[in-house]
Amino acid sequence: MKIVLVSDGMHDIITNYRLGKLDIVNKNGLSLADAQHFLQSIDPKLEGILITDEAFNQQPEQDRKDLLALLEWLRSNHGSQIQVIYVTKDISKEAELADLIHTYRNFKMNTYDYVRIPALLFKQTIDQMKENGSGNQKKEKEKNTKSSGETKGSFLDRFKPKPKLQPELTATDSLSKELEKISRGISRVVAVTGHRGSGLTSTVINVATEASKRGLSVMIVDMDIDYRSTNMYLNSFHERTKRDEAMNASLIRTLARPQDYMTTAFYLKENMWITALGYEFADGKLVDQFYNSGKLVGLISMLRNKFNLVVLDMPFDLLKAFKETLIHVDVFGLCVPNNLYSVLSSLRNMEAVLDDESISYLNAKSRVIVTKYNDRSRFQNDIFTPERVSTVMSSGLLDSLSYEMKVAGYVPYSHDFDSQIESDLPLVHTSTEYERAYGNILLRLMEGAG
Ligand SMILES: Nc1ncnc2c1ncn2[C@@H]1O[C@H](COP(=O)(O)OP(=O)(O)O)[C@@H](O)[C@H]1O
Ligand SMILES: [Mg+2]
Repeated sequence: MKIVLVSDGMHDIITNYRLGKLDIVNKNGLSLADAQHFLQSIDPKLEGILITDEAFNQQPEQDRKDLLALLEWLRSNHGSQIQVIYVTKDISKEAELADLIHTYRNFKMNTYDYVRIPALLFKQTIDQMKENGSGNQKKEKEKNTKSSGETKGSFLDRFKPKPKLQPELTATDSLSKELEKISRGISRVVAVTGHRGSGLTSTVINVATEASKRGLSVMIVDMDIDYRSTNMYLNSFHERTKRDEAMNASLIRTLARPQDYMTTAFYLKENMWITALGYEFADGKLVDQFYNSGKLVGLISMLRNKFNLVVLDMPFDLLKAFKETLIHVDVFGLCVPNNLYSVLSSLRNMEAVLDDESISYLNAKSRVIVTKYNDRSRFQNDIFTPERVSTVMSSGLLDSLSYEMKVAGYVPYSHDFDSQIESDLPLVHTSTEYERAYGNILLRLMEGAG
């Protein structure tokens, strides 16, 4: 793969990363302002341009102009053939440049909340470029054959985020202010993972519900077909699966034909959807055919263009079979309770099902969600805080898990936790404490990755 690296002072460091088969055309660092000039001077058979923060001169107005000029130049000379991915550590850039992402189909941003972006994430960006590159020609073809009178616009309107936050939220609510800052045009694919029993499904349901309350469009994808426990939390879906054979097979049908998700998935309320299997579904042949990484990748690519948030319920045990899906997930919410037994069994579970490379990926893209949080739990005589849980997780117990992960938040332990199942109302609807907890988690997951 042939790319130009626009990274100025970081050039040598990045070229020394092992990024797979990669031909970086420029041998020296390039600033954004010089990039266009350089591109004019070379053979244009390029597949991609990778830009990092160092290429900018830190004057937002000028930076924007330079970027715009580059994108325009590419468009007039190469259409949307050459992909441009800007890898940034600056979360605010996303909102700042959202309109460019919208305007230029070949321009993308990957935002990573790290002091220094690990090599692994650059590799992921390169993988992404490769993948998009091979799909590009096909897309271009499709685009050209589509009639101008397509109906897409009309049903898409349903998914347009609400222009304002819900009225019940006051302007002094700092959480809503922060959520508001997240550009509504941006979408995240979040996989909630961890050792089964650690509170994954309740996290999926409550984070999704909270997002929908805050005006985001959400699709829940329950990949845990061994347990199918979203049925337990969402009675309206469960009831429908009992009456409706097609809805009973929702997940399989949605995997088979992602473009039909509006009929194969179930509309819950307020721009919140779910696709899962009903308890009665037992067609092993269909599962073999459609419940696999290839299909899930297709589904994710489709859904990320339609929803602000796609949440997958994906216990560790599934990640082996869905290894190829990992790079298509923006951020993992890694659920772990704050007691040593749970931390260790989570690590052991991870090690048992995943190879080193996958664990490193997971490590680089995870945020820790401390579930069943017990504020009296101690570790080596200190309070076992969420941050300590994260520190212990990455303390070398697993070789491939060595970056300290940020904490997305915690869910307090409660004896009443299962009342949400009996009442069929996620806790974020009935308890301000849990609304705040899951709201924070939502925010940290939304702002985390590109
Ligand atoms: N914060 C919590 N407080 C008390 N119990 C919890 C909490 N989170 C999870 N649990 C218990 O764990 C069970 C499993 O939770 P669930 O979210 O379905 O996890 P998973 O999908 O990982 O199996 C719940 O039914 C509940 O009994
Ligand atoms: Mg579950």
